[in-house]
Amino acid sequence: MSEKNSNKPVSLQEKLEKNVWAFVLATAMVVSVGGIVEIVPLFYLKTTMEDINHPEFEELKGVRPYTALELAGRDIYQREGCYLCHSQMIRPFRDEKDRYGHYSLAVESKYDHPFQWGSKRTGPDIARLGGKYSDDWHIQHLRAPRSVVPESVMPNYPWLDDSTIDGVGIEKRVKAMRVLGVPYTDEDIKGAAESVEGKTEMEALVAYLQVLGTMIKFEPGRDYRD
Ligand code: HEC
Repeated sequence: MSEKNSNKPVSLQEKLEKNVWAFVLATAMVVSVGGIVEIVPLFYLKTTMEDINHPEFEELKGVRPYTALELAGRDIYQREGCYLCHSQMIRPFRDEKDRYGHYSLAVESKYDHPFQWGSKRTGPDIARLGGKYSDDWHIQHLRAPRSVVPESVMPNYPWLDDSTIDGVGIEKRVKAMRVLGVPYTDEDIKGAAESVEGKTEMEALVAYLQVLGTMIKFEPGRDYRD
């Protein structure tokens, strides 16, 4: 080091960079500010979800737990990694609402463990997919997307026709969901295996896709924010 440089005052950055513990402490402090800004407001909110008991929001009560078959379909959705290309989260912006429909509400995911919001959209958002196409369209599309949408880059999922849903497995899954707070009844658990008997993975996945976004009947011009 030259004479000239050694006389230079040592900057705060230089001090931090040369002292690992000071650097760790400073980093932790900066990160915790970000945490506090996100966490503290939650303590002041009455609820993080739309108020389903609000007398004017009756339609929000339409959100129900998935049937055993839909739940099985949801598992396949996760297993196949569909969420890597599809989000289920319509943001409250005009272009999103114009394309997909009413923006997503927190209450719509309250029985989703884990939620499937995502942010990667190689394909379109599918939060309001239910009822948009027939079951046959979905089956054809999942077997061979390019046979219905020639420019599609979505993979083929032909093996979904080959396996049936494991009834014992789905019963356990329904039970596990109840542990996580989904209000399944004893009857739901008892009937789970029987209700999926003989159903293929394809049928389960299509049942799941067809229920997406259909539980709440949205009226135009509604605003659910508190
Ligand atoms: C590599 C990315 C990718 C993956 C993985 C993927 N998709 Fe897609 N998906 C797309 C693209 C791109 C489109 C738009 C073209 C088309 O309709 O095929 C699409 C379209 C769709 C559509 C039609 C949506 C609409 O509103 O028209 C459905 C339904 C769908 N995908 C379901 C699925 C399911 C279920 C899975 C998992 C089994 C899956 N996708 C996996 C890329 C993907």
